[in-house]
Amino acid sequence: MTVAKSNDFPPLDPNAGVPFYRQIYDRFRAAIASGLLKPGDRIPSARALTKELGLARGTIESAYSLLAAEGYIESHGQAGTVVTPGLSTLTPVPVPALQQISNAAEVSFRPDSILPFQMGLPALDAFPRKIWARLGAGCVRAMQPSDMVHPPIYGLPALRTEIATYLQVSRGIGCSPSQVFITSGYRHTIELIADTLLKAGDHVWLEDPGYPPTREIFRHMQITTVPVRVDQDGMVISDGLKAAHGAVAAVVTPAHQSPLGMSLILPRRLALLDWAAKSKSWIIEDDYDGEYRYVSRPLPALKSLDRNGRVLYSGTFSKVLFPGLRLAYLVVPEDLVERFEHISQTLAGGSPELTQAIVTAFIKEGHFARHIQRMRKLYAQRRKATAIGLETVLGKHMSIASQPGGMHLILQLKNQHSDRLLSARMRESGLYAEALADWTMLSEAPAALLVNFTNIGSQSVAEHLAKRILQLI
Ligand SMILES: Cc1ncc(COP(=O)(O)O)c(C=O)c1O
Repeated sequence: MTVAKSNDFPPLDPNAGVPFYRQIYDRFRAAIASGLLKPGDRIPSARALTKELGLARGTIESAYSLLAAEGYIESHGQAGTVVTPGLSTLTPVPVPALQQISNAAEVSFRPDSILPFQMGLPALDAFPRKIWARLGAGCVRAMQPSDMVHPPIYGLPALRTEIATYLQVSRGIGCSPSQVFITSGYRHTIELIADTLLKAGDHVWLEDPGYPPTREIFRHMQITTVPVRVDQDGMVISDGLKAAHGAVAAVVTPAHQSPLGMSLILPRRLALLDWAAKSKSWIIEDDYDGEYRYVSRPLPALKSLDRNGRVLYSGTFSKVLFPGLRLAYLVVPEDLVERFEHISQTLAGGSPELTQAIVTAFIKEGHFARHIQRMRKLYAQRRKATAIGLETVLGKHMSIASQPGGMHLILQLKNQHSDRLLSARMRESGLYAEALADWTMLSEAPAALLVNFTNIGSQSVAEHLAKRILQLI
């Protein structure tokens, strides 16, 4: 089986010596040539892509004009821009046909209801539920008996294709649909990786502080976790090398470190990739909310720099759509596809086909890209309003750290208050917060609370909630 190589689809690279419009043009051409984009498929509007990539409108328009002039795409007015119907594939980059792939610690507190500041939730009031209902009804109506059998183990082929296209255009990742495995969430993704590539006793680097479920899963599997310090530039790779040079894997959140929010700088990305290539180790990139960055355009994924096939990319729909979906995805290096297929055949049951069909339609009709753009704007507003509201009431007791991306704020406590104690009190009184101490293994973390801002509608709501916190201090 031949598949498209990741370097067939280069990421946008400011140092490439090739102008951005040309890089965008090349990406679309490659996507069309490989069959990821098919004649008649809609592509994002120039306006939407301008926002998505954070480039000048003229750059996108130049790329689109060139594609149109060469007959790859055509504008259908109100109906959008599509890959030219009837276009024959131009450069035969072999991608597997769809038929081929279709056959084939107690810190995780989960309240019963939605609490103010609850971590991990997108803006639930802003989800386009009417559109979702329309698409859902359409998918149910279109259901055939053949859709009622067990779902394809690696995921719905159409969804795998949409994800591969999205990752190529938005995150700079070149992959074929056969490299994309649909999972039921991040934990499932990590389990699948561990079942396929790791064994009890192996050492894995984890960022410290870092997302607690990752270490809980590895501990459960008797895999030794090695905490590696994080500073203002992300994971300190030299510390990891000193602590466990021979580790089998490293888990990182390069776009937006979870929970501190900095991004992993380029020299460290390269050092990490170099270590993985030389020691034949794996890098697990947890890109849980890389889409949400408010100060500049989203950074390309670490996976986009992976020339040696060492990075496993973990994405999720929990933040960009909603966590109740239980849909996430894993992109594996080409050489590992067969091993992951084999393990999935043994251990996975597949994800509900109907849910996958609705997500596929949501992406295909352009709602996904639009929703991300709308949320980026809304979150920038809510982040600011929440920070000002909290600062106004609680400024004497805590300082609020502004991060370039993500969905939560870090409230650093002054006056030696305990973050564990305050977060416990908040939960008892119907508010949500997580203590940074619970996300930390080694280092002395400053006392700080993690609070989500995406569901705080205004500054006055934030002030009202802040007054409730003040009573608990
Ligand atoms: C660091 C991190 N990784 C991954 C996830 C995604 O988890 P899931 O796909 O299980 O919702 C989250 C969600 O909160 C997260 O914070």
